[in-house]
Amino acid sequence: MNQNDLDFVHRFVPAEEPGAPALLLLHGTGGNEDDLLPLGRMIDDRAALLSPRGKVLEHGMPRFFRRLAEGVFDHEDLVNRTHELAGFIKQATGEYDLNPGLLYAMGFSNGANIAASLLLLHPGLLAGAVLLRAMTPFEPETPPDLSGKPVYLAAGRSDQIVPPEDTERLAELLREAGAEVRLDWQPGGHGIGRAEVEAAQSWFADTIRSGSR
Ligand code: MLT
Repeated sequence: MNQNDLDFVHRFVPAEEPGAPALLLLHGTGGNEDDLLPLGRMIDDRAALLSPRGKVLEHGMPRFFRRLAEGVFDHEDLVNRTHELAGFIKQATGEYDLNPGLLYAMGFSNGANIAASLLLLHPGLLAGAVLLRAMTPFEPETPPDLSGKPVYLAAGRSDQIVPPEDTERLAELLREAGAEVRLDWQPGGHGIGRAEVEAAQSWFADTIRSGSR
């Protein structure tokens, strides 16, 4: 698995059974396309996994968009990179024969931030998302329509990178857009713990089971 003419370096792991969901895995700063494959498998052991590598390099560390400082995003680059990633997702969906109605993003940190940006700029693209340590990527000029889309936000109470009010604002924006948001506060920081992986897994299983939420 898998280089072809799709324009992001990526990994693709086919679903273990027909009709299983697909997870778009978006790594954090300094990660790559291999990082979240095990986590994706933990979230759903049957899902197809599509895992691109961010194209921006910050001192050699891959990211999905440029930032000017920690938590200060280069808005123009973020918007352009979000559209570019959306193009890749559409192409890959065709190439790997994925059902767009069962395509969920799962992002960590920088990957969660571009996943949130995808929800805001391309609200029809994803069926829902698991966002681990996400920030508000920007305030949208036009409110997107995310009616009924399930979004799981896992945030750390003592996160040094993501201020709690920033995650609260993202939850509010998504709810205003009609998404069904579960905001799950964890006692820890920016790192992901076992308990929340299990919580995300059980949320995802419920979400898939209840079908078209
Ligand atoms: C970002 O730049 O997306 C956030 O600050 C999270 C990070 O990657 O450190």
